[in-house]
Amino acid sequence: MFESLERLPADPILGLSAACAADPNPDKIDLTVGVYKNESGQTPVFAAVQRAQEALSEREVTKAYLPQVGDAHYIEGIRKLLLGESHPALEAERVTSVQAPGGCGALRVGAEVIKSANPSAKVWLSAPTWPNHIPLIGSVGLEFKEYRYYDPATHAVDFDGMLADLADAAPGDVLLLHGCCHNPCGADLSPEQWQAVTTLTAERGLMPFIDIAYQGMGKSLDEDAFGVRHMTENLPEVLVAASNSKNMGLYRERTGAIVFSGRDRETAEIFSSQATKAARKIYSMPPAHGAILAGMVLSDTALNNSWREELAAMCERLNGLRVMLDEKLSAATGKDFSFIRNESGMFSFLGLTPEQVDRLREEFSVYMVGSSRVNVAGVNNANVDYLAKAVAAVL
Ligand SMILES: Cc1ncc(COP(=O)(O)O)c(C=O)c1O
Repeated sequence: MFESLERLPADPILGLSAACAADPNPDKIDLTVGVYKNESGQTPVFAAVQRAQEALSEREVTKAYLPQVGDAHYIEGIRKLLLGESHPALEAERVTSVQAPGGCGALRVGAEVIKSANPSAKVWLSAPTWPNHIPLIGSVGLEFKEYRYYDPATHAVDFDGMLADLADAAPGDVLLLHGCCHNPCGADLSPEQWQAVTTLTAERGLMPFIDIAYQGMGKSLDEDAFGVRHMTENLPEVLVAASNSKNMGLYRERTGAIVFSGRDRETAEIFSSQATKAARKIYSMPPAHGAILAGMVLSDTALNNSWREELAAMCERLNGLRVMLDEKLSAATGKDFSFIRNESGMFSFLGLTPEQVDRLREEFSVYMVGSSRVNVAGVNNANVDYLAKAVAAVL
């Protein structure tokens, strides 16, 4: 049967990472996939997650299915992590959360429920956005529109362009926003800009859908959640796709949640029932291991403190790498790379042409996405000089 189908090319980003792994050059640098790496190029297991895992292996007595909404500690913990302990929406009990297989699973489940509620809704995506948004959300049959977001000339958010484009959104359309650490550009909305977008969302009757996959990796757990918290406080309905792949290092464990704040408890519960039904028809039951570990880390004070400290150190290191990258690139090329410091999280566009990106790969074994998006976490003290020299050579 399947011989009638054609062989598909590798995913553009994952394919590049595989090509880098196969490259024999000892100086090669992998700046492709959005995975955190420490100074030795490793993606570590958080100490708190390791300890939770040890405790779990002692006490786990069953592998029976979790409840459909997921692990109880996790789904409560993720609401509080996103919104803060005493957010008014939590106090009003108008927030529900359903565990999902990673942020991707949460985006897909969210899209399924949106499609059931408003099949003709258009989903407004930032230009650019994370490419996987399109198949994840588009596969339920929703259509897209784009709003201006990143201006390559200024290396910053084109906020006037964003507002102007969103003025064309129709009531009931979905506004997809990156909660923090925008992927791919690293340029985030300021608190004032979040406030203005919240006002516009209310005025135009849009449904905000916030994808937050890097909370705690931009500025801090609380600051990175500003947009989620502000919108949830000021709008009747907000949908959030949360991931703990990056901020708990649980990538392969597929740990995330779709979190909905509604007008009242009843609407929030309606959403939850729809989300579990949507999940049932795609993958049926949520995966347990990562969510149980995350639930332990979120609910146990000692594990929680340890995790917060390690995450804060990771965040500080990423911001330090941004400073180092700016210094080295600016010195080697004579050009201004200070924009890298003003961005958040793991990503930045270096502003190179596709041809320059190809030369970096072919002549220097420096791998980045064709748009010149780099994963800042792939830089370290040992490779930054080589990287700066290579970039200077292709410029
Ligand atoms: C913008 C964005 N959203 C969501 C995700 C979801 O990640 P996961 O499904 O691995 O939790 C990612 C991961 O790279 C991402 O970059």
